[in-house]
Amino acid sequence: MRRLRQNAAFRRLVRETTLGVDDLLQPFFVVPGHGIKEEISSLPGNYHLSIDCLIEETKKAQALGVPAILLFGVPEEADKDLYASGAYAPHGIVQEAVRALKSNVPDLLVTTDVCLCEYTPHSHCGVLKDGYLLNDESLEILAKTAVSHAEAGSDMVAPAAMLDGQIATLRGALDSNGFQNVAIMAYSAKFASKLYEPFFKEGTQSALKSGNKKTHQMPFYNSDEAMREIALDIEEGADIVMVKPALFYLDIVYRARQQFQMPLAVYNVSGEMAMIDAAARLGRLDRNRIMFEALACMKRAGADVIITYAAMQVAQCLNGKRLCIDAESLPEAAMSGVNV
Ligand code: PBG
Ligand code: ZN
Repeated sequence: MRRLRQNAAFRRLVRETTLGVDDLLQPFFVVPGHGIKEEISSLPGNYHLSIDCLIEETKKAQALGVPAILLFGVPEEADKDLYASGAYAPHGIVQEAVRALKSNVPDLLVTTDVCLCEYTPHSHCGVLKDGYLLNDESLEILAKTAVSHAEAGSDMVAPAAMLDGQIATLRGALDSNGFQNVAIMAYSAKFASKLYEPFFKEGTQSALKSGNKKTHQMPFYNSDEAMREIALDIEEGADIVMVKPALFYLDIVYRARQQFQMPLAVYNVSGEMAMIDAAARLGRLDRNRIMFEALACMKRAGADVIITYAAMQVAQCLNGKRLCIDAESLPEAAMSGVNV
């Protein structure tokens, strides 16, 4: 076996998996205000951005070759209510940001996260009754939210709430409002994971005040159930299906790859990034090399699209190349000064 491993040229020749900027989707967090660019400490290289700064950052992403972004809104506490009306407000934070993006960075593919947890005071993903997340009542609000994102110019909506029937509901609402071309990337197998904590503690500042999300997100010990979730989303009209988180869940990714001939996304979530970053800060792991290894392994497991907070940093390391033929041979110079 070692003949084909003896040098980089042999290894390149028989390489089965590649990682490139075209695979990556960079999340962004948009906040009200002007001139705001504040780093999110648990997600180094990621910021809370007001719309003007978001435009500057997304122009950088585009110049680096990153094809698509995923947008999250972080509204003021005062704009939250029990029916999440801020989520579909015509001049809400996401709606205004999408309009600005479409007029300033028109070729960048804009995906908008569709969930209500950033817009309710308790941070649950919809309307509660006696502590239980109501399905159909919340779906109605999610559908209005998706349509309002489409009206603002979103290219793709990403429903994240794990409610039953959400893909069919959103597809129907988009179509009947004239948005047949707006795609849906479904958070299909989204697990109730503790790995999201840095995201909602610092990213969207939407930590739950009480309860948990186990009545709608998937239990992490199930795998057949994930296949049923994905099958339903495909039937209901999803264009891209997703497994989330990524690293602990690569068996699910592999199974989905085998079972469904669909574009498959993985979400390399905040906690995965935070673990690698923390180990690197302790001097235990080489942050950039580990990040490349993690992302390449997600591709090997079967992912087509990777949502990662390191997308722009990876693109920077690749330094104009679209494809990372061989991460091990990236020069140290390309790695140093960049935190992947
Ligand atoms: C819901 C949403 C969450 C994440 C992405 N979309 C939080 C949740 O469902 O609890 C987590 C992403 C991450 O941890 O990086 N709007
Ligand atoms: Zn949510």
